[in-house]
Amino acid sequence: MPLVPMKQILDEAMKKNYGVGAFNVNNMEQIQGIMRAAKETRSPVIVQASRGALKYTNMYYIKHMVAAAVEDNPEIPISLHLDHGNSLQTCKLAIELGFTSVMIDGSLKEDSKTPTTFDENVKVTKAVVEYAHSLGVTVEGELGTLGGIEDGVGSGKVKLTDPDEAAKFIKITGVDALALAIGTSHGAYKFKVDPEIAKNMIKMDIIKQVREKVPGTPLVMHGSSSVPRELIDLVNNYGGQLPHAVGVPMSAIQEAIKLGIKKINVDTDGRLAITGAIRKFFVENPAEFDPRSYFGAARQAVYEVVKGKMIDFGTAGHAGDYEPLTLEDMKKIYV
Ligand code: G3H
Ligand code: 13P
Ligand code: ZN
Repeated sequence: MPLVPMKQILDEAMKKNYGVGAFNVNNMEQIQGIMRAAKETRSPVIVQASRGALKYTNMYYIKHMVAAAVEDNPEIPISLHLDHGNSLQTCKLAIELGFTSVMIDGSLKEDSKTPTTFDENVKVTKAVVEYAHSLGVTVEGELGTLGGIEDGVGSGKVKLTDPDEAAKFIKITGVDALALAIGTSHGAYKFKVDPEIAKNMIKMDIIKQVREKVPGTPLVMHGSSSVPRELIDLVNNYGGQLPHAVGVPMSAIQEAIKLGIKKINVDTDGRLAITGAIRKFFVENPAEFDPRSYFGAARQAVYEVVKGKMIDFGTAGHAGDYEPLTLEDMKKIYV
């Protein structure tokens, strides 16, 4: 099947109340690891690329590597999504490349650092919705700001989402999905306390309130990596230095899914899995220099982490539930 609009994947997840992972990719091994997990668990999947990923892959490689994933996995619904688009122009570029979904992160200005006002966010999000929907492409917006700064992206300040504003934002802009700020942040250092205590710092109430006000809109959780202890230990035991890394416990994500989160963004756990596998490989195989050996180990590690999440998010088994929609179909639905 061709790439599907993300709206379809999320709307189907709404109907059966499961979550779908949106996994950041930058290279072939990540895509292959994710797709093997999706195929084996029969899961729909969202593959997402940030602006950094577009730059790193010179754009065309992302486009064609994902096209290869589609060709290799005709039975899996796959959506290609732009993560944290910073302007209408970036979203247009992704759509021209063939992305079936874009995020316009209007919570920050085009510099991806300075927080915007509600009205500024509405303005840019509305413009992206108008353009993207005319082509059948899904749009994710964001209201509120997360903590953490990844590769210079993020204000570093937290502004939790106000549920009343979120309801108003969804109605005015027409976004298909909304990312909420509920106390998570990007990267490996999300909390300064143990994961079990961190669990109580996630504002489930915000999800609940937004869901009550706008029941039909799938909600998105950014900064959802669990930063598993075993991955941190693996990295540190083989020469890495990631002190005090803490993520979002899976039990908290599962609770959030029940309350209305349907798209779960994961980048850091994939990075940790790759780093751990390669560090271990080099220590244990100092004479090896065939890149396929250590990139192969990294790909295997991505597969294992992603497969676990597809099972834990409840995505497994749902790939064959529905007939894929095309962007042409979506255009008609939006009209
Ligand atoms: O939300 C940010 C993602 O983790 C993407 O990170 O900009 O380093 O590719 P990146
Ligand atoms: P993590 O850093 O927790 O993996 O979050 C990734 C993310 O939200 C991408 O948009
Ligand atoms: Zn994010």
